Amino acid sequence: MTLWKEKRRIFITCARGTVGILEGEIRALRFPDLAMLETAVETEGTLADTVRLNLSLRTAQRILYLLDAFPAVQAQDLYRRLVKLPWETIIAPDGYLSVTSSADTDAVRDPRFANMKTKDAIVDRIRDRKGRRPDSGPGRHGAVVHLHWVGDRCELWIDTSGEPLSRRGYRKIPLEAPMQETLAAAVILATGWDGRTPLINPMCGSGTLAIEGALIALERAPGILRQNFGFMHILGFDSPAFQREREELKKKAHRKAPGRIVATDIRPAAVEAARRNARTAGVEHLIEFRACDFRDTPVPDGEGVVILNPEYGERMGDTDKLGEIYRGIGDFFKSKCPGYRGYIFTGNLDLAKKVGLRTKRRMPFYNGPIECRLLEYELYRGSHRASPAGKPPG
Ligand SMILES: C[S@@+](CC[C@H](N)C(=O)[O-])C[C@H]1O[C@@H](n2cnc3c(N)ncnc32)[C@H](O)[C@@H]1O
Repeated sequence: MTLWKEKRRIFITCARGTVGILEGEIRALRFPDLAMLETAVETEGTLADTVRLNLSLRTAQRILYLLDAFPAVQAQDLYRRLVKLPWETIIAPDGYLSVTSSADTDAVRDPRFANMKTKDAIVDRIRDRKGRRPDSGPGRHGAVVHLHWVGDRCELWIDTSGEPLSRRGYRKIPLEAPMQETLAAAVILATGWDGRTPLINPMCGSGTLAIEGALIALERAPGILRQNFGFMHILGFDSPAFQREREELKKKAHRKAPGRIVATDIRPAAVEAARRNARTAGVEHLIEFRACDFRDTPVPDGEGVVILNPEYGERMGDTDKLGEIYRGIGDFFKSKCPGYRGYIFTGNLDLAKKVGLRTKRRMPFYNGPIECRLLEYELYRGSHRASPAGKPPG
């Protein structure tokens, strides 16, 4: 099989609420947009193309490359079809294999059974042809095959990412309630921040928003830090070509960004973790860190973006005390950020009402299963307060 040069369907998944942003990224890389679903975009290309997609896309979670599509009514149909595929040309007999699946079919009640049948067919075929079989298990550090089975229709994909792309590799010290890297990138892209004006991030926690902001400002491909991707474990992987692609992307990135990035948090340990994560990501020199209350965050004069991800009572923090914090954010926006666009990312709209400022936009996002909003405030000099109930007057 010459998958590396064969154009096939490519399915790129993302977090709910971010598909429009992902689609924009895919188009910017000049890949066609064949279909847009709630949490995925379908495009097409070769297996070699997935290398660039994995290295470059900021908001993609997994990049799947189609291997086969066929009808299957029972688990035996699945096995019989899969054992005929030339797996010995795809996965090395001394490699490592993991199978994931999403199944909505009467044929199997437990998706683990579908996984097992898929894995059995692959390793039986390789053992038959090569006399040895790859190890298998749940780890995503080797070749990953994904089965999608709905009704009597099966699709089998190579998961070219392996570990989800949200694991960029820089967050060595995760704190409580960190935002996924891919979600943080989507949030920064949704603000429309262009990297030229200041980006101010009080309550930075482990620094994900500020770090993703720095990577965006440098136009640095987010995947170049990662050492391992699923595609590396598919036979025919051209390691020198991959290194060249990575070097090219590195060279394309800017060394400096024009806009200042400021990240603060009240907990010195959080600031230290954010600083170390930024160092691992190679952007420490672009971010000014400070341990302070959000109200004391330095905000340069002029225009810019100020973004906060306060606790919202789901995973940490206490809803009553948080009301005071949200009111304080409204005051901070009004008194210290005139001329800026202000953003709050929160999963608690009741708390958001306490901000007391008129929202310009409310963009829906999901943080895992939690429905969230990115609230935008235009902070004119003398911003209008909303009515006490939190509703805009008039
Ligand atoms: C939900 S976490 C932010 C997570 C962050 N987006 C990340 O990806 O790691 C909220 C942060 O707000 C900080 N915080 C709480 N009260 C604060 C205050 N009064 N001033 C500044 N930071 C505060 C906490 O220390 C915590 O790190």
